[in-house]
Amino acid sequence: MIDTDEKHHVVTIEINGVRQTASVEARKLLVHLLRDDLGLTGTHVGCDTSQCGACTVDIDGKAVKSCTVLAVMADGSRVTTIEGLSPTATTASHRVQKAWQAEDVPQCGYCQSGQIMAAAALLTKTADPSDEQIDQAMTNICRCGTYQRIRAAVHRAAKEA
Ligand code: FES
Ligand code: FES
Repeated sequence: MIDTDEKHHVVTIEINGVRQTASVEARKLLVHLLRDDLGLTGTHVGCDTSQCGACTVDIDGKAVKSCTVLAVMADGSRVTTIEGLSPTATTASHRVQKAWQAEDVPQCGYCQSGQIMAAAALLTKTADPSDEQIDQAMTNICRCGTYQRIRAAVHRAAKEA
């Protein structure tokens, strides 16, 4: 039997600009640390097969499905969730969020925080992506089929950089 000390690890992760230290079970997924322990419920869980992308966050500049990462693997990383995309709650939204509003992208909305995080990461690497580059980089599933509006919003955000 594994004792408690061996089952838990202390991790320190910068989340939305704030250093957070937590004792986590070795098997805890990053998405559960974010949602269940830290209350960052803008990161969603949309599947149990690591396919949908609703749980996408930014880890050290890359869009990553947070259900595919153990919390211990994120130790020492810098993580941004949808709640941290704009500098503060009182400042204007991030340009990607504004573009999403302007293009009226969401339908049910469930996938959209992950879509926005994926788009923001794409635009930091590719300033003006083509439709093909958007489709290749953004593999998140939208069950409501908002893909055309997502493309339009990414183009709008690119123009407003
Ligand atoms: S919850 Fe579906 S990919 Fe993470
Ligand atoms: S807006 Fe409903 S799943 Fe994407």
